Amino acid sequence: MTNDDMAKIVDTNDEWIFSRSGIRQRHYSHVTTGEMGWLAGERALAAAGISADELDLVILGSTTPEEYCPNTASIIKNKLGATKAAAFDLNSACTSWLYGLNAATDMVKSGSIKKALVIGAERISVAMDWSKRESCFLFGDGAGAVVIEASEEKTGLLSAHMSCVPDSRECLHIPKWGLSTMHWTDDLHVSLNFEGQEIFKSAVKGMSESIAEVLRREGLTADDIDLFVPHQANVRIIQALAKRLNFPMEKIMVCIDKYANTSAAAIPLALCDALAEGRVKPGMTILTASFGAGLTCGAGIIRWGDRVEPLQHSDADIAPFEGTVFDLMKDSFAYYGVDAEHLLSK
Ligand SMILES: CC(C)(COP(=O)(O)OP(=O)(O)OC[C@H]1O[C@@H](n2cnc3c(N)ncnc32)[C@H](O)[C@@H]1OP(=O)(O)O)[C@@H](O)C(=O)NCCC(=O)NCCS
Repeated sequence: MTNDDMAKIVDTNDEWIFSRSGIRQRHYSHVTTGEMGWLAGERALAAAGISADELDLVILGSTTPEEYCPNTASIIKNKLGATKAAAFDLNSACTSWLYGLNAATDMVKSGSIKKALVIGAERISVAMDWSKRESCFLFGDGAGAVVIEASEEKTGLLSAHMSCVPDSRECLHIPKWGLSTMHWTDDLHVSLNFEGQEIFKSAVKGMSESIAEVLRREGLTADDIDLFVPHQANVRIIQALAKRLNFPMEKIMVCIDKYANTSAAAIPLALCDALAEGRVKPGMTILTASFGAGLTCGAGIIRWGDRVEPLQHSDADIAPFEGTVFDLMKDSFAYYGVDAEHLLSK
């Protein structure tokens, strides 16, 4: 869905969206979070050259799991055929994948597991409120995944710092997104509430503090970082962070123009794009940082291994949606009283 498509639904335009956020388009999925996560998982396993039954753990980082009970990670685990793997969902909003990578890495380091698949997948389009032009343009659906495994080499996530800003839960909130006694009485209309400027400031501050902490722990300075792969929520947040860290934009991976904010999927998607574009080199020191509802924050230092090419490619795929984005979203638009009939394919 391009910004021009968006302008057919809400009172906005490409110039405003791009200049305020760096976003040009976003993708909405016709399949569930579990299906997207499964496909990302299949591709990550192929790239790593390992089979699903070698996995000890599958973590799904997501704010939009398709089912809470049983969890959505178990849907993915079963579909992959990861017979001996444990499976859990982890929700810390946009930081879910980074929190998950840290949890899995610590389990590998402790020796309790050897191989893990860490997925970030979101179908956040189902929570878009088309009466709120200030937030609906910001988000998109997507999925990304990595495989980590035990190694004698000092590679992978070397250090991570996670935090949660006190008393900031109301800044970004989706009321009724979960179970409470409200479901006996209210309709389950979900709508994302947020205070953009408050989040903007907290995000820059929170990520800067976590970055300072991981650099300190590894005895590094910003000059030692070869590539920075941050959460993709707004290019202006990334620019503000770069300025605060005195870090050159040329060394930062930015792909928000293509995907918008895909929440837990944003960093693994950006990492995959950086690999595909040849920006990741063997042995590189990569910085990552994220923030999300909570407000949760985090940063990590990743030492890349020797290989930057996938060992194999998966031929797994999902049947494409037959229709336009307006066909896909027609029920959602109708729910908010948006007259999009004239945009539907006949
Ligand atoms: C949302 C965000 C892009 C807004 O940018 P901003 O520079 O703070 O813009 P403002 O909220 O001040 O809005 C400025 C004006 O644009 C208008 N506006 C809001 N949405 C608009 C849209 N989609 N199209 C056109 N105009 C819009 C506002 O009504 C306001 O008009 P006014 O000045 O006449 O009152 C920015 O605050 C942001 O990215 N925040 C954090 C994002 C976030 O929370 N991400 C999720 C967390 S992971």
